[in-house]
Amino acid sequence: MHNFSAYFRPELSDLKAYDSGRDNTNTQIWLDANESPWDNEGAEQLNRYPAPSIALQAQLAQFYQVKPDQLLLTRGSDEGVDLLMRLCARPYQDAVMIFPPTFAMYSVYAKIQAAQLIEVPLKAEDNFAFDEDLFDRKLTVNTKLIVFCTPNNPTGNTISREIIIKICNRVKNQALVIVDEAYFEFTEGPTLITDLNEYPNLVVLRTFSKFYGLAGLRCGVLLAAPAIVNACKAILAPFPFNTLTLNALAQTLRGARSVWEQQHAVILNERKIMQTVLSKLSCISKVWDSASNFLLVQCSDAKKVWEHCKSAGIMLRYFPETPLLENCLRISIGLPAENQKLIAVLKEF
Ligand SMILES: Cc1ncc(COP(=O)(O)O)c(C=O)c1O
Repeated sequence: MHNFSAYFRPELSDLKAYDSGRDNTNTQIWLDANESPWDNEGAEQLNRYPAPSIALQAQLAQFYQVKPDQLLLTRGSDEGVDLLMRLCARPYQDAVMIFPPTFAMYSVYAKIQAAQLIEVPLKAEDNFAFDEDLFDRKLTVNTKLIVFCTPNNPTGNTISREIIIKICNRVKNQALVIVDEAYFEFTEGPTLITDLNEYPNLVVLRTFSKFYGLAGLRCGVLLAAPAIVNACKAILAPFPFNTLTLNALAQTLRGARSVWEQQHAVILNERKIMQTVLSKLSCISKVWDSASNFLLVQCSDAKKVWEHCKSAGIMLRYFPETPLLENCLRISIGLPAENQKLIAVLKEF
């Protein structure tokens, strides 16, 4: 039996997940939660706190090919990161390791938790490859979370499964290894989800905000060993999701995969076209390969290019003062017409 308590803050060990009793299907009359008895809004039963739905949990588990107890629905994968930091990192004692340049919120949540941040920069001169030697030198005994992002935002490259698995073994009984697969659907894999049963300290995060086109719903999932899922539930707010979101998500999961498949093909095709066209523009000096739905480019003067696009009504992502991203812009792949418009505006520059 694996000792999961080694990963969690000991002062949280007596917390239990909030039990709303709302999953009790025998109950006809609810007089336990001081709700209004009138459903003034009609069909959605908005007078009631939203029940954790066993059916939705089963739908999600099937969607991600895990067991229902290996999955926690979160308010975006953002919340997954935040929960894990709060669960594992003791303020002013423990450390969180990240691999910049990467998704900016990892360091924000670490800071909120007052965890030490250990940065192991990717090798910019080697297309942002993972630096194994530097990892070895920077890993400390108080490192409780190691956060990989693959494909990485904003560099667009992947980190190999072999490296991640090696590190899971290396920090077993010490740290959780988070693999943020927010952009996984744009890659050819492999996913780390299939490794969850074998590596107890592995946690995979997925989101509905990117490929599935539901950023407005704010839904993601945390996939991990049941002990980790339960420990996260214990620090989660009661009824974190509203009824409308839960209903919309259940509806989406029943929806047509063919739409996503078709949109996926468009994005991959547009990514290829954009990479070729952008790399020929005089204002752009480099376009990195991407396994995601965006491209990272280096410009002669990123600020001026960004401002020029902004004044033409096109918003790109600019990274002022982010180490290793000097003069870089991140460009999301849009609709073909939007991409063409961007190219026209860049040609004007
Ligand atoms: C790598 C990465 N992880 C997580 C997120 C947050 O996603 P969500 O909308 O699921 O909170 C983003 C959003 O841009 C991201 O790029």
